[in-house]
Amino acid sequence: MTKSAALFERAKAVMPGGCSRNTILRKPHPIYAVRGAGCYVYDVEGVERIDFANNVASLIHGHAHPAIVAAVSEQLSRGTAFTVGTEAEIAYAEHMCSRNEGFERIRFVNSGTEAVMGSLKAARAYTGRPKIAKVEGSYHGLYDYAETSQTAKPETWGPAEQPASTPVSRGTPQRALDDVVVIPFNDPQRAIALLDAHADEIACVLVDALPHRIGLIPASAAFLFALREWTQANGALLVFDEVITFRSNYGGAQQWYDVQPDLTALGKMIGGGFPVGGIAGRAEVMDVMNPLNGPAAFPLYGTFSANPVTMTAGRTAMTLFDASAVAAINALGEAARTSLREAIRIADVPACVTGRGSMFRFHLSESAPQNYREAYLAPSRASLLARFVGHLFDGGLLMVETGTGILSTAMGGKEIDRLAEIAVSALRKIKPELDR
Ligand SMILES: Cc1ncc(COP(=O)(O)O)c(C=O)c1O
Repeated sequence: MTKSAALFERAKAVMPGGCSRNTILRKPHPIYAVRGAGCYVYDVEGVERIDFANNVASLIHGHAHPAIVAAVSEQLSRGTAFTVGTEAEIAYAEHMCSRNEGFERIRFVNSGTEAVMGSLKAARAYTGRPKIAKVEGSYHGLYDYAETSQTAKPETWGPAEQPASTPVSRGTPQRALDDVVVIPFNDPQRAIALLDAHADEIACVLVDALPHRIGLIPASAAFLFALREWTQANGALLVFDEVITFRSNYGGAQQWYDVQPDLTALGKMIGGGFPVGGIAGRAEVMDVMNPLNGPAAFPLYGTFSANPVTMTAGRTAMTLFDASAVAAINALGEAARTSLREAIRIADVPACVTGRGSMFRFHLSESAPQNYREAYLAPSRASLLARFVGHLFDGGLLMVETGTGILSTAMGGKEIDRLAEIAVSALRKIKPELDR
């Protein structure tokens, strides 16, 4: 038995499924890391892999960046969490607000789930309305409202012009589902018709400009513009989920568009490798959290929110992620997508690559999906994709299970060349199963 197999046996005896987050599971058992350095991860068996998962987009500089290690070590020696404030929080809030003129105020929380939940609650508090609208199939964390429709299936998703509010977890209250209006991605006409039907009740529209689960295809400017216009005209807020996409530009993916949301949910990479979330946006809206002039409309607490370890790591990481680092990683992302298209041509298989900025995603089909229903994989296609990602893994690449790759600034041309070589070999292995 390998060391990883033995660890999994121990894990299953004490945790449901042998883990605290299903993300680590793989067949026949998870692997266990002992160390990461830059863009490489070493497991308990001593195997080295290139990290194209980066803890699902949360490590912009890879592992153990010396400047982050030094800053955090110094903070650790002075304490990790206090029931009083720290300057680390203020300094990081100043930095984040300086990155995007729409970030007039910010509050930090502990995860992306909390950031999205806080944004939706802030929108409800600001508007006094109960409903939220979200895009079919998009992932926004675990909050009941935000996760609605995320795992919709052909038998449950309903007609395209009226997508159903389907639960993820058994026992989700029907009343929560009833308060979610599900809109189709990149279809402004249908989306607006659905929003119109609930115009007086919608607190906000929640949208991700490059939704990973919907195929990593960018939102069209027309779609985002229509949502911006509709929310403004109907007294609702526009909320961007930039938990993953903030890496796209110095001030987030929203800077690709001429559209500014009222609130932005942040997380992942802004923690510099530590648990984090953030809610940023218009001062007038963010003021629902302000208790200085009477009770806050949305009181926001959190024991570990803005702890100085996360604040220090985050500020160090984000200061390093300056405009030239953003341009460099996006150029490397473009090079990766070009190399992978070449790999697909060499392997001569019906596959394609989507993505933008520093992310890419494989699709084992000739053309890219355009929305959740097209991105949805029937079980046989899902297991083919799992085998493909397994071949990439065996070749030495850590990837997100959806066939998505996420770059870090620790990577260079050498890792992209290796990615393309391993991709050719993995594509050839599944070629017999790919029909044209
Ligand atoms: C777009 C998006 N929003 C929210 C979340 C939730 O973040 P967290 O896992 O930190 O709760 C995720 C996590 O993958 C995400 O991808």
